[in-house]
Amino acid sequence: MTKLISIRDCDKHVNEEVKMHVWLTDKRSSGKIVFLQLRDGTAFFQGVIRKDNVSAEVFETAKSLHQEASFYITGTVCEDSRSHFGYEIQISDLEVVTNNEGYPIGNKEHGIDFLLDHRHLWLRSRRPFAIMRIRNIIYKATIDFFEKEGFVKFDAPIFMHSAPEGTTELFHTEYFGGDAYLSQSGQLYGEVGAAAFDKIFTFGPTFRAEASKTRRHLTEFWMMEPEMAWMHQDESLDIQERFLSYVVKAVLEHGQYELELLGRDSQKLEPATQGHYTRLAYDDAVKMLQEAGRDFKWGDDFGAPDEAFISEKFDRPFFIVNYPTVIKPFYMKKNPDNPKEYLCADVLAPEGYGEIMGGSERESDYQTLRQQIAEAGLNENDYSWYLDLRKYGSVPHSGFGMGFERVIAWICKLDHVREAIPFPRMINRVQP
Ligand code: 4AD
Ligand code: MG
Repeated sequence: MTKLISIRDCDKHVNEEVKMHVWLTDKRSSGKIVFLQLRDGTAFFQGVIRKDNVSAEVFETAKSLHQEASFYITGTVCEDSRSHFGYEIQISDLEVVTNNEGYPIGNKEHGIDFLLDHRHLWLRSRRPFAIMRIRNIIYKATIDFFEKEGFVKFDAPIFMHSAPEGTTELFHTEYFGGDAYLSQSGQLYGEVGAAAFDKIFTFGPTFRAEASKTRRHLTEFWMMEPEMAWMHQDESLDIQERFLSYVVKAVLEHGQYELELLGRDSQKLEPATQGHYTRLAYDDAVKMLQEAGRDFKWGDDFGAPDEAFISEKFDRPFFIVNYPTVIKPFYMKKNPDNPKEYLCADVLAPEGYGEIMGGSERESDYQTLRQQIAEAGLNENDYSWYLDLRKYGSVPHSGFGMGFERVIAWICKLDHVREAIPFPRMINRVQP
């Protein structure tokens, strides 16, 4: 029996006869030879059919194949130094499963709206394939990292009655005659988890009804949120640095083929694996902007162009620490040395990408937190269970949130986060 293998495993079967199941991405023929560009979900490579090597029927079938035809092939794997994949297959037999005309995505330039309308098919193309594979590598590396560090995966709900990150960006839904909101962040539940399991992380979809039409905003995105009991902000920053270094290392180790498909210069990612991420004070970031003549005053939040300007100065991710309290959410702990700022940090990615993660030490004192809830104009009753965490066994604790698509966009060097998720949701798009 001929062995069924994947394209990815070609290197282990050079000069062997093998079987594969494949789809056709492109075809070229010249009299006595047909070149089939093939994919199987693991990689892309070329199949070659020579008239002299196959039956007349197989040769005619090969010539009749349409884009995205699905079929089995039998043949011999050969080294092919001309392709960057390094291998091709000399096909001896072929068995068609489906072969229909009219696949809408051709091997020509399409506009982004056309491609997004056909996202259900576009995902098969090289570029989205490479991005989703890297997404998967980052996902796996994230789980590995937190497993190694002794964290428990803890699932937060999606239907919520309270707002962790400000009430203006909530998606409302009717809930059996009452109200519920889609989760903006799993953090408050993550804090529950940390008090029960010491160190946890949540990982799931989150929703923001932000009317932001930027290259960094989705209305539905995935967030990974670790929360650590008995931990101050500095130690949380250490974890964040180790975590990002680990993730980028994993991509460089397991995603070389994908980075090449994307034309991503992997040298640019190398420094991120080395740690030593700068901890830049908010005050100093403000000075950088002012010295460059930008219109920015202390207490303003950084806009995307400000972040891009600062992040062009770094070759690896870096922290901006201790933002003014007026621009951050109610649950953060004030800096005892300067109550105008929180013990918090955002992580900005280099190459102009800006914020990819954000976190803080949490206020752990019951009365202080009550006061901060009131100051934020929130209703204490909505947070009674959250306040309970400060009544019973309260300890210093810290955490952060990683915007999954933002990290993917930076690592893959995408122009827009919409390419970092299989089915992007934005203010003007909820389908396919
Ligand atoms: O900065 P954010 O709003 O922080 C939180 O939600 C905290 N509860 C996190 C925590 O401390 N546990 O969001 C965290 C990250 C941002 O740094 C950004 O990368 C990403 O989530 N993010 C978005 N990504 C895509 N589209 C949006 N609309 C996003 N909003 C935030
Ligand atoms: Mg933030």
